[in-house]
Amino acid sequence: MKTYFLKFLILCIVLANISCENDSEDDLVEVISVELVTYENTIKTIIDDNCVFCHNDPPINFAPMPLLTYDQVKEAVDNRGLLNRVSSEDISFLMPSGGPRLPQSTIDLILQWNTDGLLEQ
Ligand code: HEC
Repeated sequence: MKTYFLKFLILCIVLANISCENDSEDDLVEVISVELVTYENTIKTIIDDNCVFCHNDPPINFAPMPLLTYDQVKEAVDNRGLLNRVSSEDISFLMPSGGPRLPQSTIDLILQWNTDGLLEQ
């Protein structure tokens, strides 16, 4: 939640700047960089709040791997179907295990992270 608010705030500040100043190339570059979803600016908080309860190090509740670091979460996207697991409508397959499903806006951020290239920062 805090992250959404921060992103919204940053976006507002950037937009306010643009509307006051003339459209220089610097502003455009700034907008693009704010919109990129990275592990540090978005994903870590989502995973910490929803997954690390089981995917701790060591993992508990029969979770097969930790999701504490950038490398671990990226590996789970690349090789363990993380995107399918959080997007699933099938409660027996869905992550977080046992549900409830993450809010669609949160799932969309994780999918966006993948589209943006699974950046760390
Ligand atoms: C209540 C405990 C629990 C929570 C919370 C939880 N998981 Fe899991 N997770 C498991 C268990 C148990 C398994 C192994 C059984 C299975 O694959 O369904 C698993 C498996 C997975 C797998 C597949 C691993 C593999 O190698 O096949 C992924 C990916 C995953 N979890 C991601 C997540 C993500 C992302 C979150 C948070 C959005 C999350 N999990 C939250 C317990 C949990």
